[in-house]
Amino acid sequence: MKTLVIGTGGREHALALALSRDPAVTEVHAAPGNPGIGAFASLHPVDPMDGAAVAALAAEIGADLVVVGPEAPLVAGVADAVREAGVPVFGPSRAAALLEGSKAFSKEVMAAAGVPTAGSRTCVTADEVAAALDAFGPPYVVKDDALAAGKGVVVTRDRAEAEEHAAGCGTVVVEEFLDGPEVSLFAVCDGTTAYPLQPAQDFKRIHDGGRGPNTGGMGSYSPLPWAPADLAATVVDTVVQPTLDEMARREAPFVGCLYVGLALTAAGPRVIEFNCRFGDPDVQPVLALLDSPLGELLLAAARGDLESVPAPVFRDGASVTVVLASAGYPESSSKGDVITGVGAANGVNDVDVIHAGTALHQDSLVTAGGRVLAVRALGYDVADARARAYAAADLVSFEGQQRRSDIAAEPLGVVEGASVADD
Ligand code: AMP
Ligand code: GLY
Repeated sequence: MKTLVIGTGGREHALALALSRDPAVTEVHAAPGNPGIGAFASLHPVDPMDGAAVAALAAEIGADLVVVGPEAPLVAGVADAVREAGVPVFGPSRAAALLEGSKAFSKEVMAAAGVPTAGSRTCVTADEVAAALDAFGPPYVVKDDALAAGKGVVVTRDRAEAEEHAAGCGTVVVEEFLDGPEVSLFAVCDGTTAYPLQPAQDFKRIHDGGRGPNTGGMGSYSPLPWAPADLAATVVDTVVQPTLDEMARREAPFVGCLYVGLALTAAGPRVIEFNCRFGDPDVQPVLALLDSPLGELLLAAARGDLESVPAPVFRDGASVTVVLASAGYPESSSKGDVITGVGAANGVNDVDVIHAGTALHQDSLVTAGGRVLAVRALGYDVADARARAYAAADLVSFEGQQRRSDIAAEPLGVVEGASVADD
C-alpha cells in the first residue's frame, strides 16, 4: 500500500511514522511534510490547500490512500478533490468538515442528534450576546463561529472581556461553562460506523498548572488511568454514532477522524467541541500505543468499509508526549535557532522525536514554528513514560526553548485552568 500524508506538523509526522510501521505499507509519501518525516519518507513540495495539486500528486505516485492531516485543507474541500479523482482519502468532505469549520453548525447537529453538550446560543448582535451572557452567567464562554486556529475561544469571569471578544468576531456561540477534566476521544469513521481509539488528555495552556494563554497543546498522554473504563464505548453510543447518523441523514457522511473534545462533568461526559481531524499532540501517544496496523484501518474507513477490519488494538503500558516550543509562543514564534540533541534523544529506547516546526538550514536543524518538537516515550505506566519523555527531552536544546514541567504529572485528571472557574 502506498500512502500519502498531507500536512507539515507533529500530527502528520506521528501518522506517517505509524503508517511506516504497518507491514502492508510499502511507501510513505508526504506533502509537504517536514525534516522529521523526510528521514523515512519521500517529501513532495505541494501546497496542502491546493486540492487539484494534491489529487494530481496522489495520481502521479499511485497512492492507494491519502490521509489529510490538518483542518484547514479539509474545510477547504481538499478531500473532495482527491475523492473525485478516484483515490481513497481519509478525511471528511468540505460539507462534513463543517463540524469543525462552524461552531454554530456543530451545535445545530449536536442538538438534532441529541448529543450531550453545553447549552448554547448563536449570536450576531451585541444585544444578543449580552442576553446570552446574562442567561448562562459566569464563567463566560464565547466562541468565534469560524475556524480560528485555537484562538477563537475565550473563557473568563470578566464580563467586559467576554463582550470585547464577541465584538471582535462576526457570529459567535455563547455557551454554558462545563466544569470537569477534559478528554480527547478520536473516532475513526467510515460515514456510517466508527471505531474509537484509546482516550488521551492534552495540556492546552502554555505554563505549568494550566496557567497562561491557550496553545495548540503542550503535551499529552494516554491511556487515562483515572477515567471510566467504558468511556470510549459510552462516547461512541451517546455522541459519535448519533452524529454520524445525523450527518448521513444530511447527505454529508463523515469519513475521517471525528475528534470529540469532552468535559467529564458531574452529570457525565459533555461535548466541548468537535474537530474533523486527529488532535495534535493528543494523538501522538495514542498512535505510539496502537498495536494494530494503521494503514489498513484508515484505508477501510476511506473505502466506507470499516467493519471489514478488526477494531484497533492497543498495547499495555502508557505513552507521554512533551512539546518543546520556541520563544514567544503562543503569541508569536521564533525561527532559525539551531537545534541540537535530536539524534541522541531519538536514539533512546522507546522514544520518538516528532517534528512539528523545524527546517533544515545549511545541514543544520533549526526552529521554524511555535511548537518545534514533541518528545514521545513509551513506558510501563504513565509515570514511567513521563520520566523517559523528560529524560530524552533534556537532551534537546535550542535558544529560548519553552516546555512545561508538569505534563502527565500527578495528580492526573484534574481540571486544567481551574483558576478560571475559581477566580
Ligand atoms: P474549543 O476550541 O472549543 O476546544 O475551546 C478551547 C478550550 O476552551 C477548550 O479546550 C476548553 O478548555 C475551553 N472551553 C471551551 N468551551 C468550554 C465550555 N463550554 N466550558 C468550559 N470550557 C470550555
Ligand atoms: N491539541 C488540540 C487540537 O489538536 O485541537
